[in-house]
Amino acid sequence: QLYPTADLASKAVAQEIADLIVSHQRTGDWTVLGLATGSSPKKVYAELIRLHREEGLSFRRVITFNLDEYYPIQPDALQSYHRFMHEHLFDHVDISPENIHIPTGTLPADDLKAYCADYEQKIQDVGGLDFQLLGIGRNGHIGFNEPGSHQQSTTRLITLDFLTRADAAAEFGGLAQVPKRAITMGIRTILAAKRIVLLAWGEHKATILQRAVEGPVSELLPASYLQTHPNATIIVDEAGASE
Ligand code: GLP
Repeated sequence: QLYPTADLASKAVAQEIADLIVSHQRTGDWTVLGLATGSSPKKVYAELIRLHREEGLSFRRVITFNLDEYYPIQPDALQSYHRFMHEHLFDHVDISPENIHIPTGTLPADDLKAYCADYEQKIQDVGGLDFQLLGIGRNGHIGFNEPGSHQQSTTRLITLDFLTRADAAAEFGGLAQVPKRAITMGIRTILAAKRIVLLAWGEHKATILQRAVEGPVSELLPASYLQTHPNATIIVDEAGASE
C-alpha cells in the first residue's frame, strides 16, 4: 500500500492499531501486539502516544512482545531496544510493566535456549499475536531473521550479518562496538500473527522491497515469506516504492 508520505502512512497504521485495541476492549478482550524498533516505526509510536494523550486511547488491556534485542547488551545502553521502546512508547502510555516483553540482552548464554522457548510459550499462552509491526533491513531481514532463516524458525539467538552490523555501526560508534549476535523472534513466530504490517520508507529500501514483493519466496530474503501470509500489508512511501 502506497502513501504519499511516511507521516500519513504512520498515522493510518497507528489508527488501525488503536481501532483494534478499542474493538477488543468493547468485548473485554486483550490486544496482543508484536512491536518493532528502528527508525521506521517511530512515527507510529508518536501517533499512538498522541492518541493516548488527546483521545483517551488506553493500553491497560494491551500485551506487547518485541521482535528482537542485541545480545549481549545492557537494557540501559543507548542502543538497546529496551531503552528504545521505553523512550519511544512505553514511558508515555498507560501500559502495565508486567505486560511488556522484550527479549533479554543480559542472560548468560547457557540459559538462552530455555529463555527463548519460554518467550514463545508466553506468546502462545495469551492466544498469539493479533498484530505484528515490522521494518525491513537492507538485506531483507525481518526482526533479526537474517538471510538463511528457516520458515519454521522460532525465537532464538542468531549471528548478525555483516551488512546489519555495518548499518548499525554509526549508532554504536564503530563496527567493532556492534554486538555480533542478537535474539529474535522466528519466522514462524511472526507468520503466526493474525495481521502483519511492514513499514518501509525511503529510497535506500526500494531495491530490497522490490525483491521481497516481486521476487520468489526464499530464505535468502526473509521478508519474502510475507507473500505466504493471508493478511500482510507492506506500507511504503513514494521513495520506498520507486523500484
Ligand atoms: C534493525 C531491526 C529491525 C529493523 C531494521 C530496519 O535491524 N532489528 O527490526 O526492521 O533494523 O531499521 P530501520 O527501520 O531503522 O530502517
